[in-house]
Amino acid sequence: METISSPGAMAAWADRVRARGETICLVPTMGFFHAGHLALMRRAGEAADAVVVSLFVNPLQFGPTEDLARYPRALARDAELAAAAGAAVLFVPATEEVYPAGFATTVRVSGLTETLCGRSRPGHFDGVTTVVAKLFHMVKPHLAVFGEKDFQQLAVIRKMVADLNLDVQIISHPIVREEDGLAMSSRNTYLSREERGKALCLFRSLQLARERVAAGEKDAARLRNEIYQYIQSYGDVSVDYVALVDAETLADCDAITDRSLLALAVKIGRTRLIDNGLLAGSLF
Ligand code: PAF
Repeated sequence: METISSPGAMAAWADRVRARGETICLVPTMGFFHAGHLALMRRAGEAADAVVVSLFVNPLQFGPTEDLARYPRALARDAELAAAAGAAVLFVPATEEVYPAGFATTVRVSGLTETLCGRSRPGHFDGVTTVVAKLFHMVKPHLAVFGEKDFQQLAVIRKMVADLNLDVQIISHPIVREEDGLAMSSRNTYLSREERGKALCLFRSLQLARERVAAGEKDAARLRNEIYQYIQSYGDVSVDYVALVDAETLADCDAITDRSLLALAVKIGRTRLIDNGLLAGSLF
């Protein structure tokens, strides 16, 4: 596996691969790899001839009070893991190369970014779409893989790709979970032992909601309220949102259908965790 840090060298590498008629799949990441990232890389390897993993902790998507400085980093370990998962290139651009002095452009998807995580993290999705659009131009992939844990991010990126006629096929990958159900996230490393126990409230909420729907519950407001109370019962957790939304439009549901997705954001101590899942059926 090659490690490339200059955007120019990255684009030249992509041009050579494309000239050979081979396909490139990008896995954009912020590093500190866990089994979820490695699953995305393996999926990318099934979809294309060459896998590029980008590792860039994107300052533009962190709010002023968020955890940019303490975001976990482990470049040498990440390089070993990406190589073992079959990546051809680990692309690690420097912040000054991605956002040179005077950088003044923002890619914004309106609508979809204004609810859920977008409401509590203003500007977050503008940072995501701006960097992903830039990565697409630097890496020139035919395909790119994103995880379904960040389902709003996935919807926003699909919309950006459609609206800007970007020639990149977006592949989604199901959430990868720990044995007890906690969705894998680099942020899980921040959790103390006690918080790690409380973090299970997210996955257990999904299970509870699925049980209720299987037993005939159709009323979204009632189910939302029950899940809210359930999470509160863990104590010392702060609910950012419990939402029942249409999985594609992200609009709130009144009645539960096979397109209804339960979306959760909960702060456990200082760590904000998200999770989601369809309550019946499968859409992605
Ligand atoms: O999902 C992430 O890790 C980031 O939002 C992404 C897509 C790599 C953009 O910085």
